[in-house]
Amino acid sequence: MPPKRQSPYLLLANIGQLLTLRGESGPRRGPALQEIGLLEDAAVLCGGGKIIAAARQRDLLRHSWLKKNKRKLQEIDCRGRVVLPGLIDCHTHPVFAGPRMMDFEKRIAGASYEEIAAAGGGIRSSVAGVRQATRRELSERVLSGFQAMLNHGTATAEAKSGYGLTTEDEIKSLEAIRDASRCWPGTVIPTLLAAHVVPPEFAGREEQYVAKVCEEIIPRVARKKLAQYVDVFCERGAFTLEQSEQVLAAARRHGLGTRAHVCQFTPSNLRGLLAYQPASLDHMDCVRDEDVSLLARSETVAVLLPGANYFLGHKEYPKARRLIDSGVAVALATDLNPGTSPTPSMPFIMSLACTHMKMSPAEAIAAATVNAACALRLEERKGSIEAGMIISGQRV
Ligand code: NIG
Ligand code: FE
Repeated sequence: MPPKRQSPYLLLANIGQLLTLRGESGPRRGPALQEIGLLEDAAVLCGGGKIIAAARQRDLLRHSWLKKNKRKLQEIDCRGRVVLPGLIDCHTHPVFAGPRMMDFEKRIAGASYEEIAAAGGGIRSSVAGVRQATRRELSERVLSGFQAMLNHGTATAEAKSGYGLTTEDEIKSLEAIRDASRCWPGTVIPTLLAAHVVPPEFAGREEQYVAKVCEEIIPRVARKKLAQYVDVFCERGAFTLEQSEQVLAAARRHGLGTRAHVCQFTPSNLRGLLAYQPASLDHMDCVRDEDVSLLARSETVAVLLPGANYFLGHKEYPKARRLIDSGVAVALATDLNPGTSPTPSMPFIMSLACTHMKMSPAEAIAAATVNAACALRLEERKGSIEAGMIISGQRV
């Protein structure tokens, strides 16, 4: 695996349309989600791993930094094209041993998500492969996932564990994410998802597994600094609301950020989860009216994952218009995983958001950049093109 290279000083010149995504700090809501900060005939100057300036080209060429450092500069002629921030995929599950083709075939033949899980498929059937794999095998898999994302324009990715479900295998999964991230020029935000489902050896002893997650796995992972966030799958067949709150409370006690998969198939009361100030609540297909207004008043971003709806063959998609028009901060992500959303492509997700969720292209771009940065609490460093933002290949 080759080491990361330092970014050179760069001038992106002759940009036809620069989508800066500049604006007020914090996530875009309502009509502001349309604002992509378009500049025509623009240029961007980068140095020292950061953006130094982004402006109309004729203004930028007068920049004093340019005059002093002309010889150090590498110029890229953008030949009238569009330049936008690297896409941010704020929800992925890249640590798995192989795709679940069997689930896909069963769904086509008419089986539901819950029927497939009950027959031994679904999330639990990805666990054996991860437990058997070495850390190195997993890190190679994760790196190939990151490369595929980069090929589709993703420069920052959140990456979850969640198919190990023992202390050792969750740690191995997070170490595989860390190893792969060191060989990838983009930025990776690691998340512990030990509370993905109850593993088979704890069947009928769900509370004991939750206690293990809270009292053993979260503290060990926090001590080793292997994750920035803790996630939980709050859903029928996974974890109850009460159990999910216990997991998020443990995360907070150990200094980790929180996020949750919720309202994918069944609605949940979001007030309890919002008390843990999650950076995001993800899926959000069936949110109750009273929770929409709570969300609109919170800093939590609703991350919509239409790839899962597409691959599950659902006719319904997350109701983006209802959320956006009510003032909820909305982001988009692939949910890349071996079973229900095997795609690394943010452009595909943005296209689904436009065709099936009636988001405008401008809204989809903002939801995949600036609002996705907010979903990872990275908005001071990522998601827009303006002075001070970090460019790919730099630690954040
Ligand atoms: O976000 N919903 C829970 N977890 C994943 C699915 C993971 C899998 O099916 O392997 C999701 O869709
Ligand atoms: Fe997911």
